[in-house]
Amino acid sequence: MLLSPLKMAHEIVRQTVQPGDTVIDGTLGNGHDALFLAQLVGSNGLVVGFDVQKEAIVASQSRMYQNGIHKRAYQFYHAGHQHMLEYAKGPIAAIMFNLGYLPLGDKSVITQAETTLIALQRSLRILRHKGVLTVMCYPGHPGGAEEVHSIEKWVKQLPREYFRVMSYTPMNAPNMPAFMIAIEKN
Ligand SMILES: C[S@@+](CC[C@H](N)C(=O)[O-])C[C@H]1O[C@@H](n2cnc3c(N)ncnc32)[C@H](O)[C@@H]1O
Repeated sequence: MLLSPLKMAHEIVRQTVQPGDTVIDGTLGNGHDALFLAQLVGSNGLVVGFDVQKEAIVASQSRMYQNGIHKRAYQFYHAGHQHMLEYAKGPIAAIMFNLGYLPLGDKSVITQAETTLIALQRSLRILRHKGVLTVMCYPGHPGGAEEVHSIEKWVKQLPREYFRVMSYTPMNAPNMPAFMIAIEKN
């Protein structure tokens, strides 16, 4: 069965992350990806998460609580992911970004090309050897295409001896469908 781009991101991360690892969720939103990560790293691991909206931090904390994730296994910051180096130290096994806006939230708060690119560049610095970075891209909303275009331009020039870059894209879906970019650090 073919996987959706988001499920594919989860599969790639699942194959990379071991219990006890430190991982990052760059866009907490409603905490679905953070919970997925927390379940992978277990009680000896750590999920560091970021969001610029307080309601996303609260929703993610509550998802952790409801699913029995211990407080010491996550650190969520009400801060932009572009500041991640102030909060997270490498080596990081996996970093997930799910761009765009908070579903059912304020659709005017979207990730922005400039800060997303800073965060992605910083992510590659702290990613461990053979660690993975996954980015869910949404070109369909206002501002989304510009952000995605700048990400594509950036990943295409990453040196092949240091990074493998793949994309996973629905080919026959209408209206600029969401797709996923994955980067592995050599
Ligand atoms: C598509 S949602 C994330 C979905 C989430 N991963 C989940 O599992 O529910 C995108 C999130 O990015 C957040 N965001 C926007 N700009 C940001 C930034 N500079 N740093 C961190 N989060 C940001 C938004 O507030 C929104 O909650």
